[in-house]
Amino acid sequence: MGFAKVVLTVFVLYAAAITPPIHSFNCTTSTTTTTTSCNGLVGYISPNSTTLSSITSLFGITSLLSLLASNNLPPSTLPNHTLSASQTINIPFPCICVNGTGIPKDPPLYTVVSGDTLDHIATKVFSGLVTIDQIQAFNMIVNASLIQIGQELKIPLPCSCDKVNGETAVHYGHVVASGSSVAGIAQQFNTTEDTLLKLNGLASPKDLLAGAVLDVPLKVCTSMVNSTSLDYPLLVTNGTYTLTAGNCVMCNCDASNNWTLQCKSSQLNSSIWTTCPSMQCQGAENSYLGNTTSSGCNRTTCAYAGYTNQTILTILAQDSTCPVSNNNNASKFNLQGWSWSFILILVQLVLLCHHFIH
Ligand SMILES: *[C@@H]1O[C@H](CO)[C@@H](O)[C@H](O)[C@H]1NC(C)=O
Ligand SMILES: *[C@@H]1O[C@H](CO)[C@@H](O)[C@H](O)[C@H]1NC(C)=O
Ligand SMILES: *[C@@H]1O[C@H](CO)[C@@H](O)[C@H](O)[C@H]1NC(C)=O
Ligand SMILES: *[C@@H]1O[C@H](CO)[C@@H](O)[C@H](O)[C@H]1NC(C)=O
Ligand SMILES: *[C@@H]1O[C@H](CO)[C@@H](O)[C@H](O)[C@H]1NC(C)=O
Ligand SMILES: *[C@@H]1O[C@H](CO)[C@@H](O)[C@H](O)[C@H]1NC(C)=O
Ligand SMILES: *[C@@H]1O[C@H](CO)[C@@H](O)[C@H](O)[C@H]1NC(C)=O
Ligand SMILES: *[C@@H]1O[C@H](CO)[C@@H](O)[C@H](O)[C@H]1NC(C)=O
Ligand SMILES: *[C@@H]1O[C@H](CO)[C@@H](O)[C@H](O)[C@H]1NC(C)=O
Ligand SMILES: *[C@@H]1O[C@H](CO)[C@@H](O)[C@H](O)[C@H]1NC(C)=O
Ligand SMILES: *[C@@H]1O[C@H](CO)[C@@H](O)[C@H](O)[C@H]1NC(C)=O
Ligand SMILES: *[C@@H]1O[C@H](CO)[C@@H](O)[C@H](O)[C@H]1NC(C)=O
Repeated sequence: MGFAKVVLTVFVLYAAAITPPIHSFNCTTSTTTTTTSCNGLVGYISPNSTTLSSITSLFGITSLLSLLASNNLPPSTLPNHTLSASQTINIPFPCICVNGTGIPKDPPLYTVVSGDTLDHIATKVFSGLVTIDQIQAFNMIVNASLIQIGQELKIPLPCSCDKVNGETAVHYGHVVASGSSVAGIAQQFNTTEDTLLKLNGLASPKDLLAGAVLDVPLKVCTSMVNSTSLDYPLLVTNGTYTLTAGNCVMCNCDASNNWTLQCKSSQLNSSIWTTCPSMQCQGAENSYLGNTTSSGCNRTTCAYAGYTNQTILTILAQDSTCPVSNNNNASKFNLQGWSWSFILILVQLVLLCHHFIH
């Protein structure tokens, strides 16, 4: 009896070490034009100690800054920064939906070296983020044991652009470690067991397999970015930052700050302008992006509202922690969220054409 109970517990709590089935993420959002894509993200664990520059070349990441931002490493981090073998590094990439499945807009290209097998490439080089079958199908390889040295393979990293429970999220590809449980993963990533089961087509937590790539939806910070902005929608997950508006603006997402995106000048050189456009909020003296002024329980923030090819848009947003009168219980609930009230939108109409690199 006692023994049976122990065995049962082991089966319920721990994922079995069985070869996982083919798994890619469902993705049905329309990303039909060549320009639309969403933020894909996977957790990579290098089999050996490695450097950031090796990671950027393995995954074909064009911007080291985007890799740093996804991992909350300072923008000044050098490419020779080393990572240990057991460390998880977040790999950001643009994702599109094709035939109901999410794939990278520009899949990483891996060149086969002497001694490689598809199994080694899938399970070791790409730490199980893809399966042999996925690489084989994606590259139309007839016989998996016949790959040539120098052959280029496109790696179909899993991703999705779909909303989850009606909310925009970043879908994170998480390789299930042996011994983990659905409940534990849900807790680790601030989601629910139910959401994980549904999203991954699992009937029960017992169906979780070690080595499978789980689609984990990550909540993003709310922002004031205008839908007409070039970086809309700006999706930043908890504990990370992003550089936007040609690297002029740095935005942090911190769950403990009511899941509200906090943006300020990055003080970095711009990738699109010779100098960054003004980030001053007009109508508020000496108020620049990220500045907050408090008046009693009222607080006004000069927030980021997006960018165009000529300007950085700002908005004066107000929130309040003023106590509400007790005669209306409903109004107490309204205080739960971060209620912004728009005062004005400021589009800095400074002509910055002369700032452009021709
Ligand atoms: C990384 O490169 C910088 C200069 O490029 C050098 O000063 C530093 O010693 C290098 N660090 C490591 C760990 O190789
Ligand atoms: C999508 O599916 C259709 C029909 O099955 C097929 O003809 C087409 O080649 C597929 N597209 C891609 C990019 O795989
Ligand atoms: C990791 O290091 C081992 C031993 O140095 C080597 O055989 C293996 O190919 C390396 N793996 C990768 C993916 O580079
Ligand atoms: C794949 O190639 C290997 C080596 O040439 C061969 O032994 C095997 O029969 C082939 N498999 C199929 C399914 O053609
Ligand atoms: C997610 O984190 C927030 C705190 O930011 C917490 O209030 C909430 O309960 C968590 N949700 C889940 C599903 O764990
Ligand atoms: C993914 O899409 C397929 C085909 O539409 C569907 O059969 C399957 O149930 C979907 N899986 C999940 C987990 O929603
Ligand atoms: C977004 O920007 C456009 C013009 O750039 C403006 O007309 C519109 O009111 C803005 N929307 C919001 C929600 O601020
Ligand atoms: C947000 O990230 C921080 C730091 O990475 C972490 O300590 C915290 O638990 C996370 N909160 C949620 C709700 O995910
Ligand atoms: C406003 O923001 C600017 C630029 O980020 C900073 O230099 C300044 O100290 C801030 N002022 C206040 C009052 O926070
Ligand atoms: C806060 O703002 C509200 C209106 O938004 C105003 O009625 C109230 O007097 C303000 N409180 C303080 C302390 O400034
Ligand atoms: C900026 O955008 C406007 C329209 O939105 C366009 O007419 C103009 O050519 C663009 N300028 C540059 C330098 O891309
Ligand atoms: C977050 O919201 C709660 C309740 O609405 C409020 O008490 C708290 O001060 C807010 N935190 C921040 C950092 O604004």
